[in-house]
Amino acid sequence: MALTTESQARRLMARLDALAAFTDDPPRLTRLCLSQSHRRAAEQFIAWAKESGIAARIDPVGNVRARYEGRRPGAPALMIGSHIDTVRDAGRYDGALGALAALSLAEGLAAQGRRLDVALEIVAFGDEEGVRFPYTLTGSRGLAGVNEPEALAQKDAGGVTMRDALKAFGGDPDHLGAARADGVAAFVELHIEQGPVLEAEGRPLGIVSAINGATRLSAVVTGSAGHAGASPMDLRRDALAAAAEMVLAIEARARAEDELVATVGRLDVEPGAVNVIPGRARFTIDIRAPLDEPRRRAVADIAAAMQAIARRRGVRLDELTPTHEAAGYVCHPAIVAGLAAAVVAVGADPRLLPSGAGHDTMVMGQRWPAGMLFVRCKGGVSHNPAESISEDDCAIALAALTRFAEGFRAA
Ligand code: GLV
Ligand code: MN
Ligand code: MN
Repeated sequence: MALTTESQARRLMARLDALAAFTDDPPRLTRLCLSQSHRRAAEQFIAWAKESGIAARIDPVGNVRARYEGRRPGAPALMIGSHIDTVRDAGRYDGALGALAALSLAEGLAAQGRRLDVALEIVAFGDEEGVRFPYTLTGSRGLAGVNEPEALAQKDAGGVTMRDALKAFGGDPDHLGAARADGVAAFVELHIEQGPVLEAEGRPLGIVSAINGATRLSAVVTGSAGHAGASPMDLRRDALAAAAEMVLAIEARARAEDELVATVGRLDVEPGAVNVIPGRARFTIDIRAPLDEPRRRAVADIAAAMQAIARRRGVRLDELTPTHEAAGYVCHPAIVAGLAAAVVAVGADPRLLPSGAGHDTMVMGQRWPAGMLFVRCKGGVSHNPAESISEDDCAIALAALTRFAEGFRAA
């Protein structure tokens, strides 16, 4: 039976609600990479694909993958998808929308018994957020074949290595190379905007022009723990007070330059007691900008500022280690043009806008022509349980994605 775009969108929205129940932290949605809830969400994804006669599997690096053949078996593929891991206390659309929309697109074709010139490769990436393991984007790096060998050795906060987590998840850490994709002609990702531009302009869809690059670092500041009552202020080496000054220096550096953003999203203090001067502070730093050079300059300036603060306060900056680096990506002009034509075909304006958030597309673009379609989200809110999109917008996004796939020709 043929499905209308509206009925597809209704089912997609219902699946997004259902997927949000896979969490390690109810009632909050927290589905970290390679966790139990990630595994159960992957199994659900595979079960939904099976209902439509589409065989899906977990690949060696922890992505869910499926293929819907084109008219000619073995034809080059258009790969479509997004991620199904989440941040802590997440919204239900970041990532999951694009992963499930890819499945929806193939299901719509299957329901009509239609095949395209190209095959569709559907992917639900497993590691986009970088909240559990710092290196990040191992799913898309696995497909592109650019993972660093050290990725498997990285540990989560509980000391579990990615190798062990991947094995328990159903991946194959000994054969990561087998995840490398071949026969792919291009990659496209549908995603919520995660910002306010489309809503402010009254547009349902946008086409991503470029994606900001990012550097993440972990910092450890060591001072001297001591008695909160007995230590005079001028004789302390308070690691947290030094870290606090560093956080403000990071903020000031980002504020001083257009389009540069920097965030300290996590800070842990040891020993962590009301009456003990903090002896150690550990924190994360996330720095992003559209162009790589200004971002690299900011990273260097921030490192120098942190060293200067440590010296002046008599504490040590024991560690300032890059944990993740992703170059900015200018979306491929042919994909941007194809998406623009598809957006116009469904009656929307082809608004181009940059992405401040990171995406698997920035890795996929290292190997294949790649691009992204954004859908408006309520209030521009994301990485927050209040994330929301409308069913109407979901329907128009699905229609545009379908038009794009129908019109896509492998070079
Ligand atoms: C992913 O959501 C990121 O940009 O941090
Ligand atoms: Mn995302
Ligand atoms: Mn995200």
